[in-house]
Amino acid sequence: MAKPPLPHPILTTPRLRLRQFRAEDTAAMYECFSNPEAMRFWNQPVHTRLIDTERAVRSFIDCTPSYYRYWAVADAGSDRCIGMVSYHDGHIRSKRASIGYMIDPSRQNQGLATEAVGALIDYCFGALGLHRLQAFIDPDNQASRALAEKFGFRSEGLLLDHLRVGDEWRSEMVYALLETERPQQ
Ligand SMILES: CC(C)(COP(=O)(O)OP(=O)(O)OC[C@H]1O[C@@H](n2cnc3c(N)ncnc32)[C@H](O)[C@@H]1OP(=O)(O)O)[C@@H](O)C(=O)NCCC(=O)NCCS
Repeated sequence: MAKPPLPHPILTTPRLRLRQFRAEDTAAMYECFSNPEAMRFWNQPVHTRLIDTERAVRSFIDCTPSYYRYWAVADAGSDRCIGMVSYHDGHIRSKRASIGYMIDPSRQNQGLATEAVGALIDYCFGALGLHRLQAFIDPDNQASRALAEKFGFRSEGLLLDHLRVGDEWRSEMVYALLETERPQQ
């Protein structure tokens, strides 16, 4: 008989609880995905209809742990969703994956992404046993570059026209962090 899936791991930090997405998180994520500034460097166009976010959240609830997993970033006290983190493009047998993150614009610049992404990296190198993490970042995305560099990610170069969003080609920098090179926090 097939084994039942393992429960979605819950990751905790001083101010946050990273947990599985629920359908009720749609309105909170719509605040992020309908915001042109937050979506400026995202891999999808700005959401203009709630149904776009409903579909996205549905895909975040399902996961294939060997390939991708999404966490709702929630306030530890209220459990209100204020963003997301993920690993995706996972090649778990090759021990590598890419990471993604977004924090609600009204909650940015408070160190919350630092907490959430720190917990995600701990999980990827720890429980998941990965060796290499990647982040694909627009050269103009100063906040994301600062965040990645804070954790020791280094740029390996620019991938020209790596992403197609709507009618637009976007180039991205590939950043990487090896488990063996991870700075002591
Ligand atoms: C990237 C993002 C998650 C950062 O979230 P945040 O909660 O504001 O980040 P933090 O407060 O933890 O700050 C992390 C670091 O980035 C720096 N930073 C934040 N915004 C910055 C900006 N606009 N320019 C330069 N540095 C910035 C902070 O100073 C901090 O570094 P420090 O601790 O050395 O001072 C957030 O800006 C976001 O959601 N952006 C939109 C989605 C996105 O582009 N995601 C990444 C796709 S690759």
